[in-house]
Amino acid sequence: MEPSSSPFSSIPEVQALFASDHYIADRPLALTLKLAVDLQKPVLLEGEAGVGKTEVAKVLARALDTPLIRLQCYEGLDASTALYEWNYARQILHIRMAEQNPAARANLEQTIFDDRFLLNRPVLAAIRHPGPRPAVLLIDEIDRADEEFEAFLLEVLSDYQVSVPEIGTFKATLPPYVILTSNRTRELNDALKRRCLYLWVDYPSVQKEREIIAQRVPALDPSLRAAIARTMQALRAIDFYKRPGIAESLDWSRALLGLGVQTLSAEVLLETAGVVLKYHDDIERLRALDVAALITGPGA
Ligand SMILES: Nc1ncnc2c1ncn2[C@@H]1O[C@H](COP(=O)(O)OP(=O)(O)OP(=O)(O)O)[C@@H](O)[C@H]1O
Ligand SMILES: [Mg+2]
Repeated sequence: MEPSSSPFSSIPEVQALFASDHYIADRPLALTLKLAVDLQKPVLLEGEAGVGKTEVAKVLARALDTPLIRLQCYEGLDASTALYEWNYARQILHIRMAEQNPAARANLEQTIFDDRFLLNRPVLAAIRHPGPRPAVLLIDEIDRADEEFEAFLLEVLSDYQVSVPEIGTFKATLPPYVILTSNRTRELNDALKRRCLYLWVDYPSVQKEREIIAQRVPALDPSLRAAIARTMQALRAIDFYKRPGIAESLDWSRALLGLGVQTLSAEVLLETAGVVLKYHDDIERLRALDVAALITGPGA
């Protein structure tokens, strides 16, 4: 594809489009997305829970003014759920009706496997998306699916075509922009990784987290916002079983706003610990720490 045909003229433009949708995209992310769109390569976003991976695909679709088609992965997800299924109920109805009519009965085999009876599941829907622009296909939490599913995906992502034996082959005229996310509960197949542009989505810096809170919870007082961002950093430095992500700092910001909290204190943190930490052991661990030091700690 010629650079001039790119929907994104520059990296700052990607950042600006994302910012206008309240998503703070740092340069590595914006660069990866621009490359993905220009080179038509899938992007693999890996990172801890709640760092903003899924949201990238949603914001990208809005920035490109195109639909987001989402495939949520889980253990046991199979190719047919991802691609297509036949609408058996409608097919049976069609057969019943054809039985009344000898002409229709003769043609039954041709008419029964018609596009009308095909249920386009996310991957096929993305491949068949008529435009005007390619769809964004989000393959969320691919690490939860089985390895066989990864192998199947690899095939689809290599030529963007899907064959439905009874009908024929569908090849994308507008190959979708593909975003894969993984929480890295297991390593993905090398072949799949090789096909993608890879980006590790890290926890944000204090400054970035302040900006995110400002964007998402604008009513929050700036000094409380700064205290939350600092405390989140301190909390993430502790090796909790499950460290809090950006999702948790936004929840916490909204919670403190709703409670009318003016200043962050050890009491407030302990009282609202369940907004930030989701494991009993982690909360117990927090209680055993010098909580006041977490809030007023280095950089306070
Ligand atoms: N850079 C950012 N700018 C603005 N909001 C952000 C940013 N990163 C994350 N968020 C917000 O944080 C929340 C969590 O993001 P998201 O659900 O995308 O995380 P995730 O990495 O997909 O998490 P999980 O692994 O749990 O699915 C969302 O509300 C999202 O809008
Ligand atoms: Mg997600």
